[in-house]
Amino acid sequence: MPSKVALLSLLFLAAACERTPAPPTALPKAIEPTVPVAAVADLPADVSAAFDQLQGRLKERLLAEISRGGPVAAIDVCKIEAPRLTAAQTTANLRVGRTSVALRNPANQPPDWAAQWVRDQGRRKVANGAKSASVLLPDGGTGYLRAIGAAPVCLACHGPRADLASEVGARLSQSYPADAAVDFAEGDLRGWFWAEKSAAAK
Ligand code: HEC
Repeated sequence: MPSKVALLSLLFLAAACERTPAPPTALPKAIEPTVPVAAVADLPADVSAAFDQLQGRLKERLLAEISRGGPVAAIDVCKIEAPRLTAAQTTANLRVGRTSVALRNPANQPPDWAAQWVRDQGRRKVANGAKSASVLLPDGGTGYLRAIGAAPVCLACHGPRADLASEVGARLSQSYPADAAVDFAEGDLRGWFWAEKSAAAK
């Protein structure tokens, strides 16, 4: 008989596969934390490195595509590559994702333990609050979050809806009919990198 944990992992994998192209994850889905997420000054080096790497790759692909084909072409690249690049950061002991209080891709929902934090932090300026946070998870693992600020380059696709180039607005509403990830200004809290580190990784 497979164990309950193994069955849960399989269920999670099946659910995750529907949302993104084959994320390589072995961790079971986190359960509600018993204590609230709290701000921290620093994140562990391996978590920071995973976030830095993901941010670097996304930015590199985004800038290359914008200069090659403009923001409309870059939307398609984001749509296909962002979930893949994000999933590629996941290892046996570290599950990584991106989320926001105002989602473009509905598959980027926060994990259960991060939902309240993401909602409470809202759309404030990044400078006006915690940049990193963590929480001990009931399974002995740890959840981590790092704020993502909106830079000028982001506003071509996440700025005020009325200011988006008309082809950009049209392509976004075609690909993301429930798109809420607009009306951001430079310095706004656009979203969060999150990570779950398993207890075994400590
Ligand atoms: C060319 C258009 C474009 C630009 C420019 C752009 N994004 Fe996005 N963004 C997208 C698309 C499309 C998605 C949905 C794809 C995905 O990640 O699943 C997305 C998703 C996101 C998400 C995941 C949460 C969600 O809403 O689904 C975050 C966080 C994010 N973008 C932040 C940024 C930041 C920060 C910048 C600037 C460095 C930026 N974006 C620039 C198009 C863009």
